[in-house]
Amino acid sequence: MLNRLEAIQASAEAELAAVTNEVELQAWKVRHLGRSAPLGEVLDGLRSLAKDERPAVGKRSNEVKARLEAAFGARQEVLEARDLQRSLLEDRLDVTLPGRPPAAGRLHPATQTLRQIFAIWAEMGFQIYRSPDVESDEFNFELLNIPAHHPARDMWDTFYTTTPGVLLRTHTSPGQIRVMRERAPEPIRVILPGMCYRYEQTDASHEAQFNQVEGLAVGAGITFADLKGTLTSFARRMFGDQVRTRFRADHFPFTEPSADMSVECFLCGGQGCGVCKQTGWLEILGCGMVHPTVLRNGGYDPERFSGFAFGMGTERITMLKHRIDDIRAFWANDLRFLEQF
Ligand code: FA5
Repeated sequence: MLNRLEAIQASAEAELAAVTNEVELQAWKVRHLGRSAPLGEVLDGLRSLAKDERPAVGKRSNEVKARLEAAFGARQEVLEARDLQRSLLEDRLDVTLPGRPPAAGRLHPATQTLRQIFAIWAEMGFQIYRSPDVESDEFNFELLNIPAHHPARDMWDTFYTTTPGVLLRTHTSPGQIRVMRERAPEPIRVILPGMCYRYEQTDASHEAQFNQVEGLAVGAGITFADLKGTLTSFARRMFGDQVRTRFRADHFPFTEPSADMSVECFLCGGQGCGVCKQTGWLEILGCGMVHPTVLRNGGYDPERFSGFAFGMGTERITMLKHRIDDIRAFWANDLRFLEQF
């Protein structure tokens, strides 16, 4: 029996020396240290041995078991050390490699222009005043001197809601009444930016939704010269000192007199081209002196106060700055367009 134990030990050690990975090692353990291993059979059979043989065989069996267990542990350590070494070599990180730059998002071109416009008006002392996108007919039209059924309503094709008298604002001008009612009789110098909505057939220069920046100044003794000077100064800050501007008579029910302001066409330098429809000028805003009725509706006495107002389209200004030839690109969410800014 002792010889058998020597043979068991010798063959187990020989096999262990040939083990090269963890899977083989675990299989070896089952084969040589498991319940039905040859060594286990010897231990199970101890009772059937002659009494005087038992102590020596038992002792030797335990020695062989301890030795195989120790050999298993040692082999496992060797294999683990080897695996660790290999993964350190193969998976080595080069911490000096530059990182991958994250793809940074950018501000929408309309937002970029809005921020530039805000900064210019802030320099000139105008605060930002926000008014709601969902408006009443009263504020969007009536208080601005545009009564129901007045033909001037045709200037603003309107999205009405299912609630009578509630609509999406067609321009930022209703904010004029809101800020006047809040501030009267204090002087006012504000801009009112926001999205406007028109039930419009879209084309290269007309969208169903677009940003406007309204402006309003109210105080004692404000004149048309203030309006002209302020807007000319804005155009120079926005488009450069050399830009030429032109004011022409226009009509808005809420201003009197009314005008529109154009800047010289960038593309042709005023010579006339397709973009400026051969006129050499590009219109960027409507403006005028606040109508006495509107001042009164806002809580100001038109005998003591006067004011000027203007409304400019942000996307149209962005189109001029970046030579964009179709306004529909702004809200189409096409990354090929947006990534250019
Ligand atoms: C108005 O909306 C007036 N409330 C402006 C105003 C304010 C005049 C204060 C006097 C005093 P108008 O409809 O022209 O006016 O629009 C003003 C600007 O908004 C236009 O010059 C244009 O730049 C822009 N705009 C108008 N309609 C559209 C549209 N469908 N798509 C894109 N931009 C538009």
